[in-house]
Amino acid sequence: MDKYKIKNICCIGAGYVGGPTMAVFAEHCKEVKIIVTDVNERRINSWNDPDIGNLPIYEPGLDQIIDKCRDKNLFFSTNIQESIANADMIFISVNTPTKTKGVGAGKASDLRWVEASARQIAEFAKGHTIVVEKSTLPVRTAKTIKKILSNSQHNDFKERNKTFSVLSNPEFLSEGNAIQDLEYPDRVLIGGDDEFAIELLADLYKNWVPNEKIIRTSIWSSELSKLTANAFLAQRISSINAIAALCEETEADVKEVEKAIGLDSRIGRKFLSPGPGFGGSCFQKDILNLVYLCEYYNLNQIASYWEQVVIINNWQKDRISKLIVNSLFGTVSNKKLAILGFAFKANTNDTRNSPSIKICKDLLDEGALLSIYDPKVGEKQIKNDLTTSIAEVDYDSSKARFVYSKSLDDAIDGSHAILILTEWKEFKEIKWDHFFRKMKRPSWVFDTRSVVDVGTLEKIGFNVWQIGNCSQSNP
Ligand code: NAD
Ligand code: UGA
Repeated sequence: MDKYKIKNICCIGAGYVGGPTMAVFAEHCKEVKIIVTDVNERRINSWNDPDIGNLPIYEPGLDQIIDKCRDKNLFFSTNIQESIANADMIFISVNTPTKTKGVGAGKASDLRWVEASARQIAEFAKGHTIVVEKSTLPVRTAKTIKKILSNSQHNDFKERNKTFSVLSNPEFLSEGNAIQDLEYPDRVLIGGDDEFAIELLADLYKNWVPNEKIIRTSIWSSELSKLTANAFLAQRISSINAIAALCEETEADVKEVEKAIGLDSRIGRKFLSPGPGFGGSCFQKDILNLVYLCEYYNLNQIASYWEQVVIINNWQKDRISKLIVNSLFGTVSNKKLAILGFAFKANTNDTRNSPSIKICKDLLDEGALLSIYDPKVGEKQIKNDLTTSIAEVDYDSSKARFVYSKSLDDAIDGSHAILILTEWKEFKEIKWDHFFRKMKRPSWVFDTRSVVDVGTLEKIGFNVWQIGNCSQSNP
């Protein structure tokens, strides 16, 4: 008899994780039919758009895989009910943001979408279903999911054959590099207590991931490992950003320090680039969730230890807008500043929690006129990000104090300063002498991503501030 195999997968949530992850599954598991579902009809329509350039997220290499697999074994649909009913394995890949109201507001994860998914599964699933937590969740969430699912087994008398196994399979992809991360993961983590279900999921991964990279753990270790991985990664960024500030005071150079410490194999070279503070939808929310969990278990010292990573990150964003104002003679009022980069990192169109948002808002509060250019983030997104929760910035009226620029030329023409906030390749290749001629004097470049060569720019005549660099002009 053939070994039992998964034939139908449903993924609830067609976002930055659900879309790319299921695309790579579809690419390597040709015999499995995969349906990615979402309540957001617009998002599903974009995933189904015949013009492959209109996918809802930008991720290098994703379009080719979608082109290859879509409507063959990979489908995008809003028909959640039917997709759940037909699936023998369901991935929950919905958003888990920080709660904004109620108990744990500002720290705990808002699990309403996870709970709604579990209830949908409980209602519509048929026969035996393996439910996989793909979203990042607080440790012990599987208990809640199991409870919701097992209640449905008891309540639904007609369908008492309905059974479930719950696994944790957190995702470690990073945006902008998602396809590489999914194709060649450092490891795949599967947590659970049902060995048969674990091996069925492992069998899918084994189509492209070597077995020794597939780690099997308890469900609680798996859930906690995901939060811990993000906390450790974010901690490295706050650590190097803290040292960058000290470099600026002491004539040390953060690039030299970075190299010197990174060559210690125990420390390693990756994830040591200073910047304007980490952004993205996850680091902050996952650390705050860890803080909340520690507080919940009365581990208050540990809670404040991790919270400091977020505090330093916020301080970093504040210090950048303040030093810009100070450098421009204490005021940016009515001065045009060119903002290069709005995405939270290069190679993505995602702006969630991007440091650019906070820094731009602070500069707008100071009266600056911003012209914002990003190769992948559009006008509508920038407008949304800058107009939510700041009443004083009015985009639609003639008083609008920020504009979206379609090109570097538009953004920089007539500006007093250029502020580099995202490390796009395009910004590393700028012809600086061309732009120097178009700017007001003194002309400033504030480089928060270490993308420019300070000496070259200074020779042209720019004043330059570069993060963690001792040879900066005179801030
Ligand atoms: P996202 O907001 O891009 O996508 C989530 C999608 O789920 C949304 O489109 C939303 O409409 C949909 N959704 C919510 N409730 C639903 C329901 N009941 N039924 C159907 N659809 C529903 O979020 P994301 O960035 O893909 O993140 C998802 C999870 O993965 C989060 O827990 C996040 O922490 C984790 N994660 C994200 C990344 C990343 O790089 N973005 C990486 C690893 C892990
Ligand atoms: C991060 C993790 O890297 C992923 O492993 C994880 O799966 C994901 O969060 C998640 O759970 O959502 P992501 O946020 O997409 O991925 O991107 P990163 O490359 O980690 O960058 C996060 C932020 O840190 C960005 O703003 C980036 O510019 C900044 N960063 C990163 C630095 O400032 N310096 C560095 O050296 C690296």
